Amino acid sequence: MKEEQAKSRIDALSVEIDRHNRLYYDQSNALISDFDFDMLLEELMRLEKEYPQFKHVDSPTQRVGGSISKSFEQYTHKNPMLSLGNTYSESELREFDQRVKKFANIEEVEYVCELKYDGVAISLIYEHGLLTKAVTRGDGVRGDIVTNNIKTIRSIPLKLQGNDFPKELELRGEILIPRDAFLKLNAEREELGEAPFANPRNAASGSIKMQDSAAVAKRPLECFLYYVIAEEKNFDSHYQSLEFAKNLGFQIPTTMARYSSIEGVFSFIKDWADAKDQLNFEIDGVVIKVNDFNLQKILGFTAKSPRWAISYKFKAERVQTRLLSVDFQVGRTGAITPVANLEAVQLAGTIVKRASLHNADIIEQLDIRLNDLVFVEKGGEIIPKIVGVNKQARTAESSVFKYAESCPECGTKLVRHESEANHYCPNELHCPPQIKGRIEHFISRKAMNIDNLGEGKVEMLFDAGLIRHLSDLFFIKAEAILGIEKRFVSEDGFQTKTMSLREKSVENILNGIEKSKQMPFPKVLYALGIRYVGETTAKKLATHFRSMENLKNADFEELISVEEVGEKIAQSVLDYFSKGEQILELEKLKAAGLQFEIEENNVSISTILSGKSFVVSGVFTRFSREEIKQLIEANGGKNASSISAKTDYVLAGENMGPAKLKKAESLKIPILSEYDFIRMIED
Ligand code: IVH
Repeated sequence: MKEEQAKSRIDALSVEIDRHNRLYYDQSNALISDFDFDMLLEELMRLEKEYPQFKHVDSPTQRVGGSISKSFEQYTHKNPMLSLGNTYSESELREFDQRVKKFANIEEVEYVCELKYDGVAISLIYEHGLLTKAVTRGDGVRGDIVTNNIKTIRSIPLKLQGNDFPKELELRGEILIPRDAFLKLNAEREELGEAPFANPRNAASGSIKMQDSAAVAKRPLECFLYYVIAEEKNFDSHYQSLEFAKNLGFQIPTTMARYSSIEGVFSFIKDWADAKDQLNFEIDGVVIKVNDFNLQKILGFTAKSPRWAISYKFKAERVQTRLLSVDFQVGRTGAITPVANLEAVQLAGTIVKRASLHNADIIEQLDIRLNDLVFVEKGGEIIPKIVGVNKQARTAESSVFKYAESCPECGTKLVRHESEANHYCPNELHCPPQIKGRIEHFISRKAMNIDNLGEGKVEMLFDAGLIRHLSDLFFIKAEAILGIEKRFVSEDGFQTKTMSLREKSVENILNGIEKSKQMPFPKVLYALGIRYVGETTAKKLATHFRSMENLKNADFEELISVEEVGEKIAQSVLDYFSKGEQILELEKLKAAGLQFEIEENNVSISTILSGKSFVVSGVFTRFSREEIKQLIEANGGKNASSISAKTDYVLAGENMGPAKLKKAESLKIPILSEYDFIRMIED
């Protein structure tokens, strides 16, 4: 590609990708698929790498993150980041309204009401229309510069739209993680054995303080704008300033509203107090702002907060109750969760008797003791949590309790890995909840998908002593399970239900088990429940190694060469295959007829590469090397391992060896990028 061509392609791609970003985020109206979008982005990244002189400072590629910094530089805010005065009562809000009127000597005031987003405050500084700095609140005077991380958030423009803006512009807003994305993120973390975030706010603040902005790019962060500071004034009111921000390309909450009296404000508060749980993000109140900028100026600031705004906080759904005892629960991965047994109390419409105590660190930080009166809250999480202790009410009855030292189920001494918040029971092969958990994971929908065998039935078969290992499932005989019964007791102990295995369900169970033998190798690998090997990792390992045998024989170096497999995963895989009992178990599963190899898929897609010989080298982004080789064959081409005069193309990924490159050049063999190749087979 000539330089000129490269420049014009970079320009065109930058504009095009920006346009799609806006369509997707501002207008929720995507015109192209995620895949096509990623392809455009990849092409731009490749061109920018080759022709850095043409890269735009506000290139959309910055959204994907990159540089790793050790610690954040500090920045002193030009205008300190103040907090807001708080109120929880209607009468205090009326007093605020009176104060404003008296101070400015007026009869009527227009207010803007906004939601009070429960996230992390951010200050965004634009110079000549470009985002040059993003700074956290810090102590209000100085904050951390987290620009690279913030640039990954697609709802924040890197370049302002149009040209109607002052040369320096500061905007403020709240960074948050939507509820559904938060639940997904936590589920992924738990699957990988990582400690879940306590709530969406912690997840958002943890995310923007990460050192690796490429990791931040994977976090589902959003930004809601609530304040514009422009030295040169372009607008008369707060409402206008946010509309102005909207025209510059920001996402402005559609929930804000204007009222000509405090009565309107009350109706807004009431509506959102009722509807807040239906939002996909957390709010903890409403912010009320004087709309008129002249009036704001007259009112000014106190040392801590503006006189022209106040926040009305919803009363947190929080109650006090007594901590009676603490249980320690063992999860599928052996992770221990401390659970509080509480004196029953009504909270947000339900009776609460148990609450999560998270982990040993949090118990220590909050100084939670038995018989204390504790505060329980229901936040974004499903399980209520203990958020503090009423220390004034502490009596002589209060007693420090010891965190479990051994597993409550099997008695094995617990371990705690450095840098991890949770304790673990290391007896993974024989600890009952870990065995049951492993079997439940094995049969789950994303794994072996064994219909008709749910948690309850696993419990029955386990209690009957019929299943201790995954492989036992495949040797179950109908006679052995027919008629098994179990009485299940509800959590409050008042209801019981008896389940028994009759002919029909026995038949269904056995059919489901039989059918699961067809599950492809990646699913089988995921189903084994190797620590840190989630669904995606299992797929990557399976496509790279092709068979259980190859995976078993792989060494550390080869494991970490697989995309997305880091040291932690590699070590976990090695540990798994180093245990004699696991090897024995694998042999039994294989004998039972499970798929231990990738089914070589010889389907032909086209003959477009027929007669062409390829040498594939290096690391690719979209496909693994094995997948690329498969694609070549599926399109009629051949794979060769070394370059010779007979080679038609060299398909080069990142880090291709220099010797190979030299040889290809000397033989004048065309070198294709992954992208060229995709284009070639797409055509
Ligand atoms: S206005 C000078 N509006 O609440 C006034 N703040 O206690 C600037 N917040 O640190 C704040 N939603 O992080 C404003 N709609 C909203 C808000 C909001 C959430 C947060 C913000 C600030 C804190 C103030």
